[in-house]
Amino acid sequence: MPDFDPNRRQLLKASTAAVGGAAASGFAPQAVAAAAAQPTASTTPATMSILLRVNGTEHQLMVDPRITLLDALRERLHLTGSKKGCDQGQCGACTVLIDGRRTTSCLTLAVMQEGHDITTIEGLGTPTSLHPLQAAFIKHDGFQCGFCTPGQICSAVGMLAEVKAGMPSHVTADLNAAIEPGDMEFRERMSGNLCRCGAYSNIQEAIAEVAGMPGQAPSATPGAKQ
Ligand code: FES
Ligand code: FES
Repeated sequence: MPDFDPNRRQLLKASTAAVGGAAASGFAPQAVAAAAAQPTASTTPATMSILLRVNGTEHQLMVDPRITLLDALRERLHLTGSKKGCDQGQCGACTVLIDGRRTTSCLTLAVMQEGHDITTIEGLGTPTSLHPLQAAFIKHDGFQCGFCTPGQICSAVGMLAEVKAGMPSHVTADLNAAIEPGDMEFRERMSGNLCRCGAYSNIQEAIAEVAGMPGQAPSATPGAKQ
């Protein structure tokens, strides 16, 4: 048997100690080196500065770029009129007006709305100076629990503007003729706003009155799609 080189013995001992240490810690030497080379991940979420114009007032905010407009309105600006129902664009409770167009605020990011005019239910009227639709909802008993009401009213404001501008809906019979506002048009156009209380017939009456056609409201159909 050849003589064992003491230098080689030293080297083997040192290597064994190093590998043993790494194994005890659960890492191979290469993994330890790779981990040391990794940059430390930041635990602070990125934020960005945005300017939101809401109900005529400008608000400078630092926000997570992933925040929805609905959450920015409710949690940062404390405008809690807009409600979070489904948080996925299906109930209409969060409807606001953006540049006069109705929009489900749960489906748009706050950072996308810089430079736009956002109107919430708080900006449509005041307790002493109600918007005509707010007054009509009260007059016609268009709400019960009231959860859907801000979204219903904002949606109705946008919807009547769409009719006035001649924008057709799915039930518009003649695309070349002036739009005839009426029961079926209102039902179809408001179908994205759900009401768990089933106040639909009264909501229809309120909208019909503001549209200048009182008496067109349909008979009550609780839970029916508008
Ligand atoms: S909460 Fe936005 S549509 Fe339901
Ligand atoms: S009034 Fe209660 S959900 Fe519409």
